[in-house]
Amino acid sequence: MYTGLLHLHSALRYVVLILLIIAVINALMKWQGKKEFKPVDKKIYLFTLIATHTQLLIGLILYFVSPIVDQAYADFGAAMKDAMLRFWAMEHFALMLIAIILITIGYSSSKKVVDAVVKHKKIAIFFLLGLVLILFAIPWPFSNVARPWF
Ligand code: HEM
Repeated sequence: MYTGLLHLHSALRYVVLILLIIAVINALMKWQGKKEFKPVDKKIYLFTLIATHTQLLIGLILYFVSPIVDQAYADFGAAMKDAMLRFWAMEHFALMLIAIILITIGYSSSKKVVDAVVKHKKIAIFFLLGLVLILFAIPWPFSNVARPWF
């Protein structure tokens, strides 16, 4: 189960990233261009929210079955001094959680306002913040906690 979930989690990052980039560009353009809020906008923003929440769910399961997280909790104090164990036990989890909370706040607060431009503005700001955090917390192959592209 662990390996299958890890591959799914790894591949789903691209779905999350593509949807987030589309949502941010759409929201920025429609906020700046003072455009109305159409059903297609709602779909883009909602699918992005669903993809990030699915990724959160898989991440949470992985957190409890991952041998590397287990290893970190075996001696948490020592793990905090090890860059790789600290990344998997704390940094990846915390940054991704904050990013997904920001995306959720953006989506739900945009639903509460009536003004279309303000809706796009809230999505643009919160989703962009989430996107930056997610890009930063992914263990890219060129980072010091390198994992494969897929
Ligand atoms: C949008 C959010 C997220 C993205 C894009 C993301 C991305 C990734 C990537 C690319 C990997 C490496 C996969 C591989 O080695 O093939 C990974 C691993 C992992 N992620 Fe996430 N992640 C996200 C959110 C989360 C969250 C919220 C949690 C925890 C609650 C989490 C927990 C983990 C764990 C435990 C591993 C595996 C560590 C291991 O056993 O090797 N992820 N994630």
